Amino acid sequence: MKIPLLDLKAEYAGLREEILGTLDRVCQSSAFVLGAEVEAFEREFAEYCGVKHCVALSNGTAALHLGLLALGVQPGDEVITSPNTFLATAEAITYCGARPVFVDTDPATANLDPKLLERSITPCTRAIMPVHLYGRAADMDAIRAVAERHKLFVLEDAAQAHGTRYRGRRTGNLANAGAFSFYPTKNLGAYGEGGALTTDDDRIANFARAARSHGQTARYEHEFVGYNYRMHGFQGAVLRIKLRRLDAWNARRREIAGEYRKLLAGARLGMPQDDARDECVYHQFVIYVKNRNAVIAQLAARGIETAVHYPRPLHLQPAYSSLGYPPGTFPHSEQACEHVLSLPAFPGLSMEQVEYVANAVMEIVGRKT
Ligand SMILES: Cc1ncc(COP(=O)(O)O)c(C=O)c1O
Repeated sequence: MKIPLLDLKAEYAGLREEILGTLDRVCQSSAFVLGAEVEAFEREFAEYCGVKHCVALSNGTAALHLGLLALGVQPGDEVITSPNTFLATAEAITYCGARPVFVDTDPATANLDPKLLERSITPCTRAIMPVHLYGRAADMDAIRAVAERHKLFVLEDAAQAHGTRYRGRRTGNLANAGAFSFYPTKNLGAYGEGGALTTDDDRIANFARAARSHGQTARYEHEFVGYNYRMHGFQGAVLRIKLRRLDAWNARRREIAGEYRKLLAGARLGMPQDDARDECVYHQFVIYVKNRNAVIAQLAARGIETAVHYPRPLHLQPAYSSLGYPPGTFPHSEQACEHVLSLPAFPGLSMEQVEYVANAVMEIVGRKT
């Protein structure tokens, strides 16, 4: 059996008629940048997240960048985030001229550990940026409580968490603002780059709307120097088609995860924990294994594709060596990056395929003694 980590070609096969129809409509209307489809997507995604505003952008990194700028992050400021994430999380802080300050993750969830936040707050701290890694919500009540005590802003990095629920509420609606990525491999993926900022705050939304389009508040009226961070019309149209299926796709991902958990109970491996009050959307289904390279090779020999999210925490990346964090500074994130392995868990997988992967993993890692 050949099992890919993700199969976007099969997904397209089921959407082809609708996608081609919408591509034609976008071309006929020549609304290639922003336009009616993007505006409709903004309304629909805002409603989906339960917020007043969604500002559609060119990618998730742009959403994080504008989110931080809207919160007033500027040179000299510090923004606290997790070192166990994709580089873009920290890059957005750097783009503002601010300094990323890393705080270790909770080994149970791989998300920012709220208990460790307070000791990293300084007079320069302006904001906290939790990441909902793998589609599992960070502990937002605890994070917001610390932020309120210290008068800090909170921006969610929800790039991997479309539809995730925390205590009944959707991500993108759990802080001052939320930043989403619609990179093609995400649970809600465009057919190219895409991103969005969600918020209830009129001021943040107005800033982001102007900033994505060269600081324009009216045609050729530039209030400030902004960016070209606009979403393409076609991406808005594709995202509308896919948003209608997102809940069903996420439910299927949870079913697959549940099956993996059942079949791998007793295997010699670790997994992040779910909180029964929340709903993880399993952007990735990850396990923690010893001798990861050998496990990857043995799974590949059985036709199973895997990936590592992520092999190196940000504080140990050359790009952030100047921050001066030596190895050992964030032991939980470092451990996670050393052992983590993503298994195929996309909605198109059959239960037979899930069983095949789980049986292979069990055979390779063995049972706990
Ligand atoms: C956690 C996280 N933050 C930010 C980003 C950046 O999003 P984009 O690639 O759309 O710029 C990504 C996705 O790639 C991500 O996974």
